[in-house]
Amino acid sequence: MNKYYADYAATSPIHPDVVEEMTKVMHHIYGNPSSIHAYGREARKIIDEARNVIAKSIHANFNEIIFTSGGTEADNMALIGTAYANKDKGKHIITTAIEHHAVLHTCEFLEQNGFEVTYLPVDKTGRVSVEDVKNALRDDTILVSVMFANNEVGTIQPIAEIGQLLSDHQAYFHTDAVQAYGLLPIDVKKMHIDLLSVSAHKINGPKGIGFLYENTGVRLQPYFYGGEQERKRRAGTENVPGIAGFKKAVEIIQKDRQKKYDFYEQLREKFIQRLKEESINFKINGSESNYLPHIINVSFPGTDVEAFLVNLDLEGISASSGSACTAGSLEPSHVLRAMYGSESDELFNSIRFSFGLGVTLEDVEDIAKITAKVVKRLTD
Ligand SMILES: Cc1ncc(COP(=O)(O)O)c(C=O)c1O
Repeated sequence: MNKYYADYAATSPIHPDVVEEMTKVMHHIYGNPSSIHAYGREARKIIDEARNVIAKSIHANFNEIIFTSGGTEADNMALIGTAYANKDKGKHIITTAIEHHAVLHTCEFLEQNGFEVTYLPVDKTGRVSVEDVKNALRDDTILVSVMFANNEVGTIQPIAEIGQLLSDHQAYFHTDAVQAYGLLPIDVKKMHIDLLSVSAHKINGPKGIGFLYENTGVRLQPYFYGGEQERKRRAGTENVPGIAGFKKAVEIIQKDRQKKYDFYEQLREKFIQRLKEESINFKINGSESNYLPHIINVSFPGTDVEAFLVNLDLEGISASSGSACTAGSLEPSHVLRAMYGSESDELFNSIRFSFGLGVTLEDVEDIAKITAKVVKRLTD
């Protein structure tokens, strides 16, 4: 039986060149980057070069990149760090109902600690309205956090417009770009973004490394105390091999970004076309115009998501529901709930397919064919 991985939005395989780069660093460069001797300087050089490449990739300055252990830490740092450092200016935060839990659960923590959070709704395509952001803004709003693109349905948010809206307000603008980075062009200066989170393992880099972009001038309170690494923002000896691998992954993903984007569009079209040819009942969840091409969330009326995923797995396809698995059962997706309401069928019959490095047109045809077979089995 052939096996198909269709869960690239959860995580992606490491690119062989990234493995090679990391292996080289692990073998030869073991100095502590804070040491002033030759071994330390060698390690420091790796970090500096990576910081340079990564800063350029979003049009940021060298000293505006803070390496973290991944997207979750970057989100926590952005939210908790700015909330605590700016509480003299206000305690109101705005976010959306469809954020990743790295943002939502952090907001819940902040609510338990005296901050007030407004959760903006989204429309049926999963998009937040700039008008809603505007109406929610108050004089005491200190932070607005809206994800660049959603990890479950792929909907891209109006980031540049929100950035523009906030450019003359005291509130900082944070965006979780974990899914968008590497596929969409990002210019933090033009888009008026103050804080931006990225994770390496979504772009064929290693797990356990990411960064937070922090615009110069943002007041951010650290929550790690120790050494003076990362301009005192994030104490602890740096993950040098991880950072080296991250840099390589960024270089690779940037090389043919548009070509990759176009190819993912082709994969998407082929997948949808093949499902149509199979004459099964399905509907795409998300936006028809503002979407990440590699994430396709599909509702199959008359099916049950848990049985569906098990059947796909038995047929060799690893896909996801996009929602969290808690204590062995699937929680209905908070993203689909925000889009359709808590009673809607989509919450219980939607599957997220996501594609990436190495997936071919033939693969997506096979995945669509097998998926249709499962749909027929489950709805007969
Ligand atoms: C949108 C989004 N934010 C944050 C994260 C968390 O990133 P990490 O796994 O690097 O902690 C993810 C990963 O699933 C994500 O999709």
